[in-house]
Amino acid sequence: MTRPLQVDSFLPADYLAEALRADVVRGLTASPKELPPKWFYDERGSVLFEEITRLPEYYPTRAEREILRARATEVAARTGAATLVELGSGSAEKTRLLLTALTGPGRGGRPATLRRYLPVDVSESALLESGTALVQEYPGLVVRPVLADFTHQLGVLPDLLPPDGPRLTAFLGGTIGNLEPAPRAEFLAELRAATDPGDWLLLGTDLVKDPAVLVPAYDDAAGVTAEFNRNVLRVINRELRADFDVDAFEHVARWDTAQEWIEMRLRSTRAQQVTIADLDLSVTFGAGEEMRTEVSAKFRTGSGPSWPPPDSPSNNGGPTRPPGSLSPSPARSEPGAARSEPEGRAVRPTGRAVPARRAARSRPRAPLGQMPVGARRRSRSGSPAARPVGCGTRNSAERAPLVGEDAGMPTLSQRLVDRGEPAVRAQLAHPTVQGIARGDLDPGVFRVWLEQDYLFLLDYVRVFTRLAWQAPDQHLGELVDLAYVTWHDELSLHRGMAAEFGADLVGAVKGPECTAYTEFLLTAAEEYGRGLAALLPCMWGYSMLGRLLAEREPSEPRYARWVAAYADPDFALLGLRCAEMLDDAYRSGLVDEASATAAFDEALKHEMAFWDVRVDG
Ligand SMILES: C[S@@+](CC[C@H](N)C(=O)[O-])C[C@H]1O[C@@H](n2cnc3c(N)ncnc32)[C@H](O)[C@@H]1O
Repeated sequence: MTRPLQVDSFLPADYLAEALRADVVRGLTASPKELPPKWFYDERGSVLFEEITRLPEYYPTRAEREILRARATEVAARTGAATLVELGSGSAEKTRLLLTALTGPGRGGRPATLRRYLPVDVSESALLESGTALVQEYPGLVVRPVLADFTHQLGVLPDLLPPDGPRLTAFLGGTIGNLEPAPRAEFLAELRAATDPGDWLLLGTDLVKDPAVLVPAYDDAAGVTAEFNRNVLRVINRELRADFDVDAFEHVARWDTAQEWIEMRLRSTRAQQVTIADLDLSVTFGAGEEMRTEVSAKFRTGSGPSWPPPDSPSNNGGPTRPPGSLSPSPARSEPGAARSEPEGRAVRPTGRAVPARRAARSRPRAPLGQMPVGARRRSRSGSPAARPVGCGTRNSAERAPLVGEDAGMPTLSQRLVDRGEPAVRAQLAHPTVQGIARGDLDPGVFRVWLEQDYLFLLDYVRVFTRLAWQAPDQHLGELVDLAYVTWHDELSLHRGMAAEFGADLVGAVKGPECTAYTEFLLTAAEEYGRGLAALLPCMWGYSMLGRLLAEREPSEPRYARWVAAYADPDFALLGLRCAEMLDDAYRSGLVDEASATAAFDEALKHEMAFWDVRVDG
């Protein structure tokens, strides 16, 4: 039997009328004009947003889903949350990964901890639709949708929550990036005030990346984002009896380099006057005049949305739970948990948040040599995985300080990457790589490379499974995942290219370079930490090489596609996980630096030699 779904509404009856009125008067009489993004989300806007999340260009949802898929079990184990509150929950589609992990039996038969889920949103239709489905999907779970504005109504939450266990507040989808710095700080201060010691925050944000990736995500070819953007005009027309000619406004998405955010705007295609009858207001738009409707701020590792500092008036002196990742209250930290805190802020056992000195070392501009460790892997969705921060995972720059290492020092994986950069750059001088860059490489040479790389990748899958066999529990799933995506995604990429180049993947036999490299990797993988170090030159090196080649814009379309595939910054995520696993292994004493460095160096040599692949010895 379906349980009735009750929505707790904290929006005043006249909320739409009053808050929308206030925003419209303020925004349309300002110069330049602007409207806040929360008004996109009526029923139609919520549906359009869901469509956006499925667009090929919109990487953030897929990336966050990948991270949650990989980390939800860990999040469940670490938080033991009794309540999950989700701010701006929307369809709660990705949230199911958390709900399943928190309601299923845990590792070692640990009982499920989650009792209730409180999605918080301004869209009643989204709450009703997702809530109704979740009630059926999770029969034992109390689902209590809350219709509220998270920018100023977080204070209602504590009263809704029985003090029967830790609360995990999730704020996903990069929605925090829609808040400009000042309101963002206010929001975080309110969130802190509404949070108890021992609660947790799971924050999903997107990172600064190449505008060539960012802009299309907000300006898709199918025009769905444009429709979503214009939807705010429809909302105003309907709710405030306005007469916007929706078709007379064009969608604009622009990367603001200084602010490091995407701006969505609506550009008036002609001079026009708009009347908002309910406000008794007329506004004029000049031809080409732009009105800002959303910002989507992107962050840098170690510089994520900042939690109010300890001496901020909003800090009541209680324990601090920094955003930017899964952040425990010290009250529930395990001994030594300060070491395993994500970077950006480290939480000391005293509970005081202190800026981590390592943040200064967090690759602020991600130059090529210091870019996050790249991966040659595609995400399981077949789409590249992005590099969001937070979401319960620590990315490379958020790794905890290493044992015995000053907090200002780079991690082992970063030291290796720094060390290997010249060798990757040296590959650019190889005739095969130059041919790819110029676009005039003999297709016969590339065909041989493709066949050999295919055979290489078959063993690459074996390397992952060999490492998975030895992996600590928390990394087992990631290694299985890496094996899976190599098998399903990267090998299919090769199969697709094989057809274009007439390569014979089935009949090919390994040449000496391929044999030497795979034998080395398979042997290295007999020792867990050494094996991870041996994988890095391939995972990170191809990402870096791809980016270097992309700068030269190869003219031959087949090579350009190949380069684009490896240059895609979103390839980096799975490689980041590999780097993180290596750092964890080092931290746990599973590998020493000398042995990791030797394996890394040898793999780098094989990488260069692989450009000489032959079939006949
Ligand atoms: C970018 S979508 C993200 C949805 C979902 N969390 C995800 O990750 O796909 C933003 C969501 O936040 C909601 N939202 C926006 N502003 C809000 C506000 N001020 N208060 C509550 N919800 C808000 C919208 O209705 C929408 O569902």
